[in-house]
Amino acid sequence: MTDPRRILVTSALPYANGPLHLGHMLEQVQTDIWVRFQRSRGNECYYICADDAHGTAIMLTAEKLGITPEEQIDRVRLEHAADSASFGISFDNFYSTHSDETRHWSETIYRRARDKGYIAAREITQAYDPEKGLFLADRFIKGTCPNCKTPDQYGDNCEACGATYAPADLIDPVSALSGATPVERESRHLFFRLPAFADMLREWIASGTLQESVANKLREWTDSELQEWDISRDAPYFGFEIPDEENKYFYVWLDAPIGYIGSFEHFCKREGVSFDDYWQPGGDTELYHFIGKDIINFHGLFWPAMLHAAELRTPTAVYAHGFLTVNGTKMSKSRGTFINARHYLDHLDAEYLRYYFAAKLSGGVDDIDLNLEDFVQRVNSDVVGKVVNIASRCSGFLRKGFDNRLAESCSEPELLTAFQSAGDAITDAYESREFGRAIRLIMELADKANQYIDHHKPWVMAKDPAQAATVRDVCSTGINCFRQLMIYLQPVLPAMAERASAYLRCTLNWEDRHELLTDHELATFEPLMQRVDPKVVAAMVDSNRPPETEAAPVPAPAPKSDDVAYLDFADFQKVDLRIARIEAASAVEGADKLLALTLDVGELGKRQVFSGIKAAYTPDDLVGKLTVVVANLAPRKMRFGVSEGMVLAAGEGDSGIFLLSPDEGATPGMRVT
Ligand code: 2FM
Ligand code: ZN
Repeated sequence: MTDPRRILVTSALPYANGPLHLGHMLEQVQTDIWVRFQRSRGNECYYICADDAHGTAIMLTAEKLGITPEEQIDRVRLEHAADSASFGISFDNFYSTHSDETRHWSETIYRRARDKGYIAAREITQAYDPEKGLFLADRFIKGTCPNCKTPDQYGDNCEACGATYAPADLIDPVSALSGATPVERESRHLFFRLPAFADMLREWIASGTLQESVANKLREWTDSELQEWDISRDAPYFGFEIPDEENKYFYVWLDAPIGYIGSFEHFCKREGVSFDDYWQPGGDTELYHFIGKDIINFHGLFWPAMLHAAELRTPTAVYAHGFLTVNGTKMSKSRGTFINARHYLDHLDAEYLRYYFAAKLSGGVDDIDLNLEDFVQRVNSDVVGKVVNIASRCSGFLRKGFDNRLAESCSEPELLTAFQSAGDAITDAYESREFGRAIRLIMELADKANQYIDHHKPWVMAKDPAQAATVRDVCSTGINCFRQLMIYLQPVLPAMAERASAYLRCTLNWEDRHELLTDHELATFEPLMQRVDPKVVAAMVDSNRPPETEAAPVPAPAPKSDDVAYLDFADFQKVDLRIARIEAASAVEGADKLLALTLDVGELGKRQVFSGIKAAYTPDDLVGKLTVVVANLAPRKMRFGVSEGMVLAAGEGDSGIFLLSPDEGATPGMRVT
């Protein structure tokens, strides 16, 4: 037997700024399965996490709620810890970056880097909100897109046309916090000299433990010019003050990963574990960070460089996963598919989702889709229909005929040997985070066990007292198959494994698979898992949608002559009117006045628009027609989907609705001026 490995594992630290959602749970479930697998094999594996508690956003949330940032982060931390626990996430410590330990290590790492000359200082010019007295990060500045002229866009990119730009390029920029016009102001900032670590990073990336696509991405960065990294922020800021500086705070992304160290140190002090074994370089412990693919740069560049600068160990690997989509698209509040962890738990068992995520996860960075129909079908057919079914088919005969006592030997040693030896391939799959492959292998075994039971038909033999011993043998073999399956599924379904372990009256550790249960008394069988009810899934989504909204029918009521508001010509010019061809039109279920239109807007592509013209037009008559669309209206979320513009029609009161159409010759995308 080789010595147990000593492993430290982390999931990304969630912001203490709002509830956990299913995207967070995908990552925590992925990490937790790997951790539980390592522990089951007998390795020492610590799983550490914390809330990421600092930054302007958290400060502003607290201000809005009329509480201190400390109150805000304490409140959220308790919620996060409870949600994760309910999903069976087996953290050894869930702490906060706003802690003495993280402060200590932030200061220490900074000082070590600074004293080696890795910190540069220089003045930079930034947007400043004179009313709020705050420097403004790009996302706190709004204005009109310099490219497509859509108003109300953020300082770094336009949601309407996708252009990226600097906040200074926005037309009529305003502070999203106060509405004030930002002014430019100089301030001294501190920079971590990342370019000095290019060679060290190349070597670390080449160490062979990273996923291929992650290593490639990182190589792209190290092979182009690395930039110095701004690690300071001006007061007011919720975070740690930078030593020997005045009114300067560490940028939240500096102390966030240091929170891994802080949380682990807090755990070590409590449990008497050696902290240094895990953070001093040159030891034999392993360190893994599970993260989303959007934060690879922080974990694959800045973090190893900072650790190296401070003479601490670098991670063994950083494992990135893809994003979670629901029913094929980004999680959406209007569709009810932006699901918070607690909302899910209010309706469904966490283990359903753990199983589904496992079945879909690979070791790569592909996005994972939670298809809700497939989810119901998959859990019911695999976990309930295959695995639980084996135990429920066999347990009754053993209870009724044999006082819950298993036979002295198993009738089908070859079947059980196949179950045992499949363990090697399943081990490899778990180890390499190919959980989908592990699940496929496990379900192939479950199919074999069910075929075996189908073949022997204990329910037929049980009618013949002469065959009692065979019934017992077959059912004892079935229960042993079930036990093997539960050993393999324990990392994914810990709560069900616990119930199975109580029924089987034995442990379910990885190496237990080499022994069989014979002449052994079982407890009385209790149902191990209920089927997922599709109605409950539908109710979860329905109750998660925002209150119903319907687009204002077009045309809107005409203003009375005495309240006409004049419009500046410049304002009128902001409206991007275009010719559109109606490609498809259909009624909208549940909406009396609306038609859903698919528009071809030439160079602007296709748009989906909901329009209140159903009273005047049948969908078929509209297809092929040209009309005029307001192309830069901010997309509106409606109960039925997002409306990406507005078609123009005339009409007043009950006089009818008349869609505007250009004369012949106009083409989709043409500007209307
Ligand atoms: O992206 C995020 O949600 C960050 N709060 C993750 C931080 S991970 C680590 F560096 F702390
Ligand atoms: Zn734009």
